[in-house]
Amino acid sequence: MRITFYFKNSPTDQWLKDLRAALPQADITEWHPGAPQADYAIAWQPPQQLLDEQKPRLKGFFNLGAGVDALLKLNWPSSLPLIRIDDGGMAVQMAEYVSHALIRHFRELDRYAAQQQAGEWKMNRTQLRTDFPVGVMGLGVLGERVARTITQFDFPVNGWSRTPKQIDGVRTFSGDVKDQGFRDFLASTRVLVNLLPLTPETTDIINRETLSQLLPKAYVINVARGAHLVEDDLLEQIASGHVAGATLDVFKTEPLPAAHPFWKHPKITISPHSSANTMREESVAQIARKIMAFDRGDTVAGLVDLSRGY
Ligand code: NAP
Ligand code: GLV
Repeated sequence: MRITFYFKNSPTDQWLKDLRAALPQADITEWHPGAPQADYAIAWQPPQQLLDEQKPRLKGFFNLGAGVDALLKLNWPSSLPLIRIDDGGMAVQMAEYVSHALIRHFRELDRYAAQQQAGEWKMNRTQLRTDFPVGVMGLGVLGERVARTITQFDFPVNGWSRTPKQIDGVRTFSGDVKDQGFRDFLASTRVLVNLLPLTPETTDIINRETLSQLLPKAYVINVARGAHLVEDDLLEQIASGHVAGATLDVFKTEPLPAAHPFWKHPKITISPHSSANTMREESVAQIARKIMAFDRGDTVAGLVDLSRGY
């Protein structure tokens, strides 16, 4: 079995070493233009050229991450199975990142940081968790883990997905963006957490209309994709006071351009698309297991439905 490997903007030596150890029977090499055609590709953000050159022989493509939006923007061969990473160590990172952003906002911890600089000893007011219902959009591998984690801090938790779900301690809503379920979800949410995949249906989903349906003094935590958010609408809603602020890990343009207003905005906290990173050890073990199963003809978890886009 031959495998071609590509990881944009990342050192590859250790990945190749670990993959070769996990799949000793395979011939695994780094992709370069003109590389020999392989049976499987393992890659993150490959160029179109990789697909074009490799597709005649490829039996499956293993994405080194959860989101497949960048791949599906390429000219994707409709018969090529695409398999994404399920969790692979990302769910716990997402849960800790979102919990941190939520608690930092709820407990007004930034005030203490500013007061420390000013040498000021002053307690924040006590706020009620019941006044901060959290709504998680997307209840998949990552969203479900995040929603479950937040219930542990006793916040009321809502969740929204395309198909109905039952999660202990979570009030769930389902359906399309146009359905009443989505409006009800927004109307009962103050802290909006986005963990949707980026698809034509979810692009620009956090906009003036959706933000204005959230409870007053709303807060936004976007950890999915920058293209889910209409950035100017967020700035407008913060200026109006309806939205209190945001924690954003992903942006329409990454890296975030130097002149972007988010950098210096006092009510916006940013991080460089790092809320949950692909963990090498977990991912190598998962992909090796899946490639062996797939090659035997067994079904594997994480097979992307190309018509749905996730
Ligand atoms: P997933 O398992 O595919 O789950 C997606 C969830 O979104 C599912 O619950 C799905 O509903 C729901 N959904 C999809 N389209 C919908 C729609 N039109 N309306 C309502 N709900 C919809 O994905 P995941 O593994 O949790 O990952 C989610 C996203 O996180 C990824 O696609 C990626 O963009 C992002 N991500 C970001 C980082 C980072 O570092 N910032 C890291 C990893 C992933 P059903 O369950 O009903 O199908
Ligand atoms: C990272 O953003 C991923 O989709 O895995």
